[in-house]
Amino acid sequence: GAANALPIPASSQTTEQASLQPTLTILYGSQTGNSKGVANSYKASALEQGYKANVVSMSDYKPRQLKNETHLVVIVSTHGEGDAPDDAVELYEFLASKKAPKLPNLKFAVVGLGDTSYEFFCQTGKDFESRLLALGATALVERLDCDVDYESVVADWTVSLNAKLKDELKPVVTEQVINLTPAANAVAESLYNKKNPFAASLSESLKITARDSVKDIRHIEVSLEGSGIVYKPGDALGVWFSNDEAMVQRILAATSTNAEDKVLIAETEFTLLDALLNKLELTLSYPGFVKKYQAQTAHQELAELMEDKAALREYLSVSQIVDITEKFPAKISAQELVDALRPITPRLYSIASSQAEVEDEVHLTVAHIEYEANGFTHQGGASGFLSTRLKEGDKLNVYVENNDNFRLPSDPNTPIIMIGPGTGIAPFRAFMQERDAVEAEGKNWLFFGNPNFTQDFLYQTEWQGYLKSGLLSKISLAFSRDQANKIYVQDRLKENGKEVFDWLEQGAHFYICGDALRMAKDVETTLLDLVAEHGNKTTAEAKEYVTNLRKSKRYQKDVY
Ligand code: 2AM
Repeated sequence: GAANALPIPASSQTTEQASLQPTLTILYGSQTGNSKGVANSYKASALEQGYKANVVSMSDYKPRQLKNETHLVVIVSTHGEGDAPDDAVELYEFLASKKAPKLPNLKFAVVGLGDTSYEFFCQTGKDFESRLLALGATALVERLDCDVDYESVVADWTVSLNAKLKDELKPVVTEQVINLTPAANAVAESLYNKKNPFAASLSESLKITARDSVKDIRHIEVSLEGSGIVYKPGDALGVWFSNDEAMVQRILAATSTNAEDKVLIAETEFTLLDALLNKLELTLSYPGFVKKYQAQTAHQELAELMEDKAALREYLSVSQIVDITEKFPAKISAQELVDALRPITPRLYSIASSQAEVEDEVHLTVAHIEYEANGFTHQGGASGFLSTRLKEGDKLNVYVENNDNFRLPSDPNTPIIMIGPGTGIAPFRAFMQERDAVEAEGKNWLFFGNPNFTQDFLYQTEWQGYLKSGLLSKISLAFSRDQANKIYVQDRLKENGKEVFDWLEQGAHFYICGDALRMAKDVETTLLDLVAEHGNKTTAEAKEYVTNLRKSKRYQKDVY
């Protein structure tokens, strides 16, 4: 990954910062809205202390501005294999380049957002910290590495940073500060959010891969009626879910705990059954659970497995909490069990509809994950909930997560190229509904792939309709298993390299949605190759061309 790609250079420049007025700048970089959310909530608390603060997206930040900063808060997420999110790339690379100035008078704090189930946990935050330190800056507080449930640790960190800033910044209680209270900032935001979701109802759930498909993909329609929720093509829907009751019963049995035992979570009392069904993460496994469960149960066999990191990782990759408790059964109190688990978090799905077409509905394209391991069938948490446990008419808690990094061009005449294999098709269905409704004139080219044409051509009749009406200018299909050799979307991209490059030269925007680990990487490599070949460019020039596309928001990714 990018984590170790760039050495930290000795900077040749020095800057005089001593005379700078103290200011507080909060920089955030993320693919999803999480770091922006943390940035805004930290700003609100800084304002309460009387500190004036600016929140800026890294993508809008001029790296040369750094030498004018005195107090900097960096909030950044990590993607794939330790990669910086798109918005952060320019600043991230600048900090490691020869151009980076020495920053002896800069004081900073870093929050990394990540997921402990990935190997390169919070790597980008770690890199920002080490680069700032190498440039001579000083850390105000210890770096915070956050797992997916970050709210409470961020709250603690906020308190310690604000305490530290007492000696650094003078409170400015002016009218300007009072006018910037969070309430004033929040007016434009929806009434519903992650903490306060809307109780929507399931209006339709349809399997859209064939019975004999190797995949199980569902088209899901949710009614937002009465909510007033507004979303844009490119946004995601956050879905809270409950766990499978049969799975919960097995965990109770394996741990010799009782459904009716009382437990506390964040000072609120629940029955253990309610906590396991609705409050705790059971379908992902995470090293933190193993550690705490072993510590509480002193399970010898589990201790041995923990010694062998590679074996542990492999075991966890196919195991859920139920597997661990059944393989290593032990007596544990209800409260200890709860304390070893982490809070359930909603799952984000790219929205597959436009309100211009579906009004108060929201559509999703959901892969129902099911796999055999340790002797029984496992399901994904939210996908199992949406696909099998929820019945039409049932309620589910949802909210919209804005994604300003995945938007149609503001000019309806601008051509677009969409790469969306598998469930990556979802936001492009939303894009086409939107462009259809506003009668956008720009050309639209879709690249779609899945295992088999007959079984897995998602929304086939809709695409055919759009081709017929002329909305869709071109569709390039890659059914990987319909022939002896695998054919993927990037192969189609390569075959059409000249035309793709021509579209880019005409100003086309280029979008990728879907698998981050392999597909999006391979597509990016192919894009670089075709730009080099058809643009007569060196590798470095092709890289710069694509970087410029990204900087001008013409290359956008929604990958997972
Ligand atoms: P496969 O499973 O037959 O290998 C959607 O999941 C489609 O993406 C499937 O057809 C899948 O093919 C394909 N796919 C798998 N790996 C890929 C990669 N590295 N790049 C692009 N598509 C890939």
